[in-house]
Formats: sequence, C-alpha cells, structure tokens
Amino acid sequence: MRRRLLWTMPYGLYVVGSRHGDRRNAMTLNFATQVSFEPKLLGIGVEKTALTHELIEGGGSFTLNTVSREDRAIVRKFTKPVEVDEAASTLNGFPFHDGPTGAPVLDQATAWIACEVRQPVDCGGHTFFIGEVVACAFQQAEDTPVLRMEDTRMSYGG
Ligand SMILES: Cc1cc2nc3c(=O)[nH]c(=O)nc-3n(C[C@H](O)[C@H](O)[C@H](O)COP(=O)(O)O)c2cc1C
Repeated sequence: MRRRLLWTMPYGLYVVGSRHGDRRNAMTLNFATQVSFEPKLLGIGVEKTALTHELIEGGGSFTLNTVSREDRAIVRKFTKPVEVDEAASTLNGFPFHDGPTGAPVLDQATAWIACEVRQPVDCGGHTFFIGEVVACAFQQAEDTPVLRMEDTRMSYGG
C-alpha cells in the first residue's frame, strides 16, 4: 500500500548529464526538486549503484535537462549506461554538447540547468546531491510544455 500511495505522487521527468574526466553519461530521473531560492539549489536523488552516481561524485557537477512532451521517447533511451560516441558527440545516438561544468547537455533538451554539487546527502540506497545552479538556458521556446511522469506509463519510487 505504501508503494502504491507513493507512486501517486506527481513528478517531472528529466535526463541528468554527468561527467568525470572523459567519461560521460545521461540518465532518466524523476527525483528532482528545487530546495532553496538563495542560493539557488536543486536536489536530485541518484541510486548509489548507477554510473551517474560515480560520475557526479567524481566530477562534482551535473546537468538537469528538461524534455519536451513531444519527445517522451527519449527518456526510455537513458535507463542504462549510455553508449558515448565522442567523435560524433552523441549519447545513445542523441547529439550532445558539454555544458559549462563539463557535464553533457542534450541538444534536444527544452532547457538545461548546470549545477555544482555543494552537499551530497546520504539517503541509504540513494544519494541526494544538492547542487547550486551555476548556469542555465532554454534551447527551445520558453512555453514548450515539458515532460512529466504522468505523460508516460513509467513509474519509479514507491
Ligand atoms: C521513469 C524512470 C524514472 C527514474 N528515476 C530515477 C531517479 O530519480 N533516480 C535514479 O537514481 N534512477 C532513476 N531511474 C533509474 C535510472 O534511469 C536507471 O537506473 C539507470 O540505469 C541508471 O543509470 P546509469 O547507471 O546509466 O547512471 C529512473 C528510471 C525510470 C524508467
């Protein structure tokens, strides 16, 4: 019952970019929220077993990419470690560029937020990485509707 109830919580759905040295990754994530105005802090909950966890810990930053509702198929492509083609600048075939902290941004993202990790909070199976917003930009029209969990048949959490 606890799981079913927790699954009813509304969430956004994002792709998180991470990088340590030459290793880059992108991962589908819904555990994301702003946690403070001043400084502007965001938190994301990342499984300790995920490659993304290792890269954020090592690299000290991440990008949060929002995705257009029209592009919902993207999030299915980032549920396991990606194939990186550095020459072509693609992650699982999706073009990317490096954001200001070095962590990748999907060219197809509606917008991106680059954060530097200020506080990793140990939460058991996950770490809640609290990061400060150091840069952000829209790549599509500001009123583009962004993807939410309810637009998909997926769930996570519970
Ligand atoms: C809809 C959906 C939401 C997800 N949300 C999260 C999340 O908030 N945090 C997390 O650590 N993994 C989440 N995952 C799981 C990761 O996408 C998945 O474990 C991925 O394989 C881990 O990525 P990595 O090993 O490539 O870094 C979610 C998966 C799906 C399908």
